[in-house]
Amino acid sequence: MPHASVLIVDDEKNILSTLSRALRLEDFDVDVAGNADITYRKLAAKAYDLLLLDVQLPDQDGLTVLRTLREGGNDVPVIMMSGHGTIETAVEATRLGAFTFLEKPIGTESLLIAIRNSLGFAQLAAENRQLKEASGATDELLGDSRVMVDLRERIALASNANANVLITGERGTGKELVARAIHRGSQRAAGPYEKLNCAAVPSELIESELFGHEAGAFTGATKQRRGKFERASGGTLFLDEVGDMPAQMQAKLLRVLQENEIERVGGSAVIRVDVRIVAATNKDLRREIDEGRFRADLHDRLNVLPVRVPPLRERLEDVPRLAEHFLRQVCAANGRRGKSLSEGAMKLLTSYDYPGNVRELRNLIERLVILTPDEVVDERAARALLPIAGAGAGTYYRPGTPLRRMLATVERDLILRALEHHRGHITNTAADLGLERSHLYKKMKALEIRRESRGGDKR
Ligand SMILES: Nc1ncnc2c1ncn2[C@@H]1O[C@H](COP(=O)(O)OP(=O)(O)OP(=O)(O)O)[C@@H](O)[C@H]1O
Ligand SMILES: [Mg+2]
Repeated sequence: MPHASVLIVDDEKNILSTLSRALRLEDFDVDVAGNADITYRKLAAKAYDLLLLDVQLPDQDGLTVLRTLREGGNDVPVIMMSGHGTIETAVEATRLGAFTFLEKPIGTESLLIAIRNSLGFAQLAAENRQLKEASGATDELLGDSRVMVDLRERIALASNANANVLITGERGTGKELVARAIHRGSQRAAGPYEKLNCAAVPSELIESELFGHEAGAFTGATKQRRGKFERASGGTLFLDEVGDMPAQMQAKLLRVLQENEIERVGGSAVIRVDVRIVAATNKDLRREIDEGRFRADLHDRLNVLPVRVPPLRERLEDVPRLAEHFLRQVCAANGRRGKSLSEGAMKLLTSYDYPGNVRELRNLIERLVILTPDEVVDERAARALLPIAGAGAGTYYRPGTPLRRMLATVERDLILRALEHHRGHITNTAADLGLERSHLYKKMKALEIRRESRGGDKR
């Protein structure tokens, strides 16, 4: 691969000059660094195609350099070099993501083979990543905010247990990604992962979807068919939108969860199943229970490990990372050159509150890419598409209205927003706003804010 750029890192001048000469003869674009510090700076300044990294450097050892790079998200292909390579170091290096390990003295021939293999592999990996992004198949949960770190911990906890999980969260927060992550991290990861969207399947078909049917069980059932429970046995069954399950099915599901046995529709044989249920809903199941639409006993069976996925507005610091990710994904899917967001556009995106959460952000980026012809999407383009266009005084000013009344509107909105943020929790809302609890109550009364008009769990 001529013209590929290689950074050689070693503190021995001899080695640097020998290897550089050999690689330049093969048309590589070669650069050198004598210690870790220079390496970091060169890598920050330029995207190299390959790093040849010595294990022993004067200021830091090569494994630490490799680890630091990977933790920082740099995935440049790396070939490690060592004078006294022990197996342990080699194993550790590959575990950290080095492509291979060469022992000094390094022959030109073996060096070139290692470089070609490594570059070829990196290219395949990049293409694979691109394809996945284009097809929307990446299912990594992105975000480094405190709440996301907590969520990942929670997911790890849920993965390790074998109990049923109930995922709650507003629409578009990533519940489906969480469900998959729980399965992937669990002891059942090698087993099947089946999914049923309880809101999308007509109620009369849910039973056969879940439990399967025998031939002739109902009109159209010409062949025997295994249901999701049977197919998920040994693995995980994801019941999405479980809050929409019809009452009759809730009773049947409960029985299966108690007995770990199913019967196919139209059949009489009892089939044992070993299934872990991960359920999700964007409904407030407690309210559904209070209002008689969801069974409390089924809720208890499902909600052994609750996982709450936070709305995007509670982690706006994740917006830049997510926006960049969707930008790349959308550009790849539309076969466009990579676009970027101006600083101002990014700032604007980070100040919106996303009632539709991550899905809304993704859709927004998609519209920005398609509607903006320029390489750089600037603040104006972003403002034109954001539902809050010109939010601020413009939203509240009504010509001919006394200031007192306009201020009341603003105050009411702010309190409603704060209450929503704290899921209707009065004490937390009052503390957040720097008010006495009783004062907040008084204001709510004066502004005609009724508590039951708020979503979330009321306390
Ligand atoms: N943390 C995240 N990192 C990357 N992508 C995310 C993240 N959270 C959500 N997404 C993406 O946002 C979109 C919505 O996520 P998902 O379908 O999991 O939401 P949901 O909570 O199941 O919503 P709904 O209740 O409407 O079904 C998906 O395209 C998903 O890939
Ligand atoms: Mg979903």
